[in-house]
Amino acid sequence: MSTANPMRYPTLQLCKRTFSTLLLFLAATPTSGDSSFLANAVPHNLNDFYQGLKDRVASCQHSLAGGFYSIDDGTNTTSYCTNDPHRPSIIYLSGGNGTLSNMDVDCDGVQGGSQDDGRCSLGRSPDYQDATAFRDLIQSFKVGISDLNTYVHPYVVFGNSGSKPGWRTFDPTDYGVRPLSVMAVVCPGNKLVYGIWGDTNGDDGDNPMVGEVSIALATACWGKNMTGDSGYDGMDVLYVAFTGEDAVPGKDGADWAAKDYDSFERSIQPLGEKLVQRMRGVAVGRKAISLWAVAGGALAGGLWLAS
Ligand SMILES: *[C@@H]1O[C@H](CO)[C@@H](O)[C@H](O)[C@H]1NC(C)=O
Ligand SMILES: *[C@@H]1O[C@H](CO)[C@@H](O)[C@H](O)[C@H]1NC(C)=O
Ligand SMILES: *[C@@H]1O[C@H](CO)[C@@H](O)[C@H](O)[C@H]1NC(C)=O
Repeated sequence: MSTANPMRYPTLQLCKRTFSTLLLFLAATPTSGDSSFLANAVPHNLNDFYQGLKDRVASCQHSLAGGFYSIDDGTNTTSYCTNDPHRPSIIYLSGGNGTLSNMDVDCDGVQGGSQDDGRCSLGRSPDYQDATAFRDLIQSFKVGISDLNTYVHPYVVFGNSGSKPGWRTFDPTDYGVRPLSVMAVVCPGNKLVYGIWGDTNGDDGDNPMVGEVSIALATACWGKNMTGDSGYDGMDVLYVAFTGEDAVPGKDGADWAAKDYDSFERSIQPLGEKLVQRMRGVAVGRKAISLWAVAGGALAGGLWLAS
């Protein structure tokens, strides 16, 4: 930092402006898996990151823990990855060799409300539990809800706990991810859903699994064909968690008591956009690099002409 290049700041400004224009444009063009379940278009920088992993231009930058399964009878090649093992700003899942994760449906927590159409009814979810991992924290907010509602809150099941011998575990809080922080979930077809880290994977099955979300989130990506016992099998869903206190909406930063998914999603969207914008610094895709090169080149050219 002490040897700052004077060129650096104008370049940043230029990119910032280009990016803000882009964000405004994207914010105005939501896409949706289902008319009443809002999804956003994926901003450029996040899409580059996503495509980079899928195209094998990039891979798990630093693995924090490996040996997890996205498909129960699949391979144990999924890892929790970070951009920087010493100062992680994001933690994401990579399945290796151009794969990411699938999307299973989790019905844990409370149900009911206007959007409960029975797709998560008891018996449809093989591993249903009546409480999500951070229920006590939600209750401490005193906002009138006793737990997350799988039909309303787009929660992501992230992190693995368990006490079976040899069981693989990973605790995102060890790296600064806070409970109930905002996450970004990219589904194929240009869909970005801002989620909440709201539950963890346990050791109730045969393998330590990843890639589960609430039915609200799954519906935003895929539509109403998602149910407690039928998810999405493709291995191209990206899950990103953000470290630090500024990823946490807290008691007042989200409409926890929302009656429907769209209202809740809108309440965390501004924070989600900010966090995704922050990922510019960790973009690893090919296009991200060329975008910087183009912006830098244009600026250098401009300076040369002006001098
Ligand atoms: C994956 O499974 C194989 C076979 O069971 C095992 O030998 C290997 O150690 C596992 N890898 C990880 C990273 O857990
Ligand atoms: C990686 O993926 C490619 C394309 O899907 C496949 O052909 C190749 O066999 C895979 N490599 C490994 C080591 O799994
Ligand atoms: C769900 O339905 C939509 C639209 O009908 C379809 O495009 C999508 O592929 C289906 N998804 C799954 C996982 O079956």
